[in-house]
Order: sequence, then structure tokens, then C-alpha cells
Amino acid sequence: MPEQINILAIESSCDETSAAVVQDGRVLSNHIATQKVHERFGGVVPEMASRAHMQNIIPVVDAAMKDAGVNKQDITAVAFTQSPGLIGSLLVGACFAKAYAQALNLPLIAVHHMQAHVLAHFIEDKPEFPFLCLTVSGGHTQIVLCRGYLDMEVIGETIDDAAGEAFDKLAKMLGMPYPGGPLVDKYAAEGNAELFKFPMAEMQGYNFSFSGIKTSVLYFLRDQKKNDPDFVDKHIKDICASVQHTIIKMLMAKLKKAARDLGIKHVGIAGGVSANSGLRKTLKETGEQLGWKVYIPKFEYCTDNAAMIGITGYHKYLKGIFSDLEVSPSARATWQ
Ligand code: KG4
Ligand code: ZN
Repeated sequence: MPEQINILAIESSCDETSAAVVQDGRVLSNHIATQKVHERFGGVVPEMASRAHMQNIIPVVDAAMKDAGVNKQDITAVAFTQSPGLIGSLLVGACFAKAYAQALNLPLIAVHHMQAHVLAHFIEDKPEFPFLCLTVSGGHTQIVLCRGYLDMEVIGETIDDAAGEAFDKLAKMLGMPYPGGPLVDKYAAEGNAELFKFPMAEMQGYNFSFSGIKTSVLYFLRDQKKNDPDFVDKHIKDICASVQHTIIKMLMAKLKKAARDLGIKHVGIAGGVSANSGLRKTLKETGEQLGWKVYIPKFEYCTDNAAMIGITGYHKYLKGIFSDLEVSPSARATWQ
């Protein structure tokens, strides 16, 4: 084992190009280039994302190295997001990481993006195991039981849309740009969450479904606009607050059930939607009521970032889990 372990980490699974340097499990730098090109299309355009990653990756890595005060000779291993994500986007990060590792003869570490979202908690905190994590992002909604850093099990997930997708689709219906989650959050903060009622999907076990709420909001808005064409303008804050409230209720119901059934008191949220102020507040309140110790990553570690890839890479390094140069990215991946 070298004296100092410096992991260069690359994240490129969707529309954020990010690079980080993690030294002995401590984040020295974390650079994120958010791609603005998608805003006007109402969603991520895969081809454009790949092209933007290609343009961003060298400057982002250079910035991360400079910020960390390290150079190529200091790097011990290269970690990258192998899956899941947009295949063209993943390919850019994977090819960069492979080339870097081969040129410098460094070990290569393939990282599962969803596992990394969970381990983002360990960047600045130290949750105790067993730890329960609700991971809510634009592509996934999962309840993960963590018995150790790399010993994780998905015990519940969405059977259709992700929670982030529900936020983004609501935002689109209300005429907001992509990604609409943060804007819905902002409007919701000033709205009446009890004004409009939307049905909650009843799912088995710890699973979720968010496609129903999207449809009911669509019909609700259509009917209201028939009576009053200015309905959305007049009630945008109340609509955002009411839908957000319903999504949070659905998420929390399953999280509470899982924590109760498994007797777990260390509970966290991760992924882009964990930046939502309503969800953060509800988790804290629930924690106080139920005696949980709650964990919420710092904002920049909630949405996609390379620091979480680096921390996962570090734990894989300690266990000697490396990949060979034949490793290839995968859009979908089974949980390891
Ligand atoms: O984890 P993430 O950055 O990327 C994926 O892996 O998908 O999550 C992005 C998702 C988007 O759907 C975005 O709208 C949502 O997280 N999001 C939010 C907030 N900030 C980001 N949703 C609700 N409230 C927020 N404040
Ligand atoms: Zn993500």
C-alpha cells in the first residue's frame, strides 16, 4: 500500500462533466462543468451531452488537479463511472480514464454511479452501519440497505418514473426549463401544500411508482385551465407545493416503513432530489420524531459529482477491487 492514496475520479454519466482528486478518503478538489446546452430542449439530448463531455473533460481534469495541488506523478489510481447512465456520455469518461491509466501505468477502478451517490455521505460524515439510504435522482429512486462501504442491497425502487423525473415533468407541464426540480422547490417554498390533493400510489414492499402522479397532474391542469386559462399563473406556487408534498409523502412512507421493519436508526438521503428543501426538512423532522440520526450530504455532493466517484474508488482501492483495460461502460447495470 502506498504512503498516500490519491484517486483521480471522473464522472460523466449524464449532463455533468466532473473530476475530483480524493486523497486518503478526503476530497481535495471537485470540479463540475454543468452543460447548459440542454436547457432549451426540455431534457438532456444524449448526442449533445457526449460532445460537451468531450469538450469539458480535459479542462475539468486540469482544474481538479491544479486545485488539489497534485500532478500526474502523484496519482495512485483512476476511478470512473462505469454505469448506469447515457452510453455516449459514459464512453467519454471511460475512454479518458482508461487512456490516463494506461499512459501512467495506474490501476483503474470502475464505479457504479448509484453506489457512489450513497457513499457521498462518507465524504464529510461517518454514518454507522447498518445505514439506510434513500437515493433519489433524475433516473433512479431506491432504498438501499448498507451493511458496509461496498456491501449494499437495493431493497426497494421505482417501478416506473424516478422521483426527479416526476419533478422535471411537473416543471415541464408548468412551462419551466429543464431541469425543473430546483425551480419547483423554489416555488413550493411559498405555496400552500394542502390546497390541491393528488393520489398516492400504493406499492408493494418498499417500491415506488411516480407515473400516476404525473398523469393526475396533467388531467388536473387540463381541467382547471378549461375553467380558467390563467389557473397556472395564479396558482403556480400552490401547485408546486401540493405536488412536491405528495412526492415527499410517498418517499417518506416507504423510508419509514423500511427503517421500522429493519430496526435501523441511521438514515440518509442522496442523489439530486436530496437537494430539495422540502425533503430535507421532512427528513430532519421525521428523524427527530422517530429518534433517527439523519444524514444529508452537502449540496454539491447531492447532485452528480466526481467526489463521490473518488470516495467509492478509494474504498475499492483499499479492498483491491480493480478493473482491467477491457472494462466497458454500460447504460444499465446490475448492482454489485
Ligand atoms: O443525481 P442527479 O444530479 O442526476 C442523476 O443521476 O439523475 O439528479 C438530477 C435530478 C433532476 O431530476 C433534478 O430536477 C433533481 O435531481 N433536482 C431536484 C432539486 N435539485 C435537483 N429536485 C427537486 N428539488 C430540488 N431542489
Ligand atoms: Zn446521479
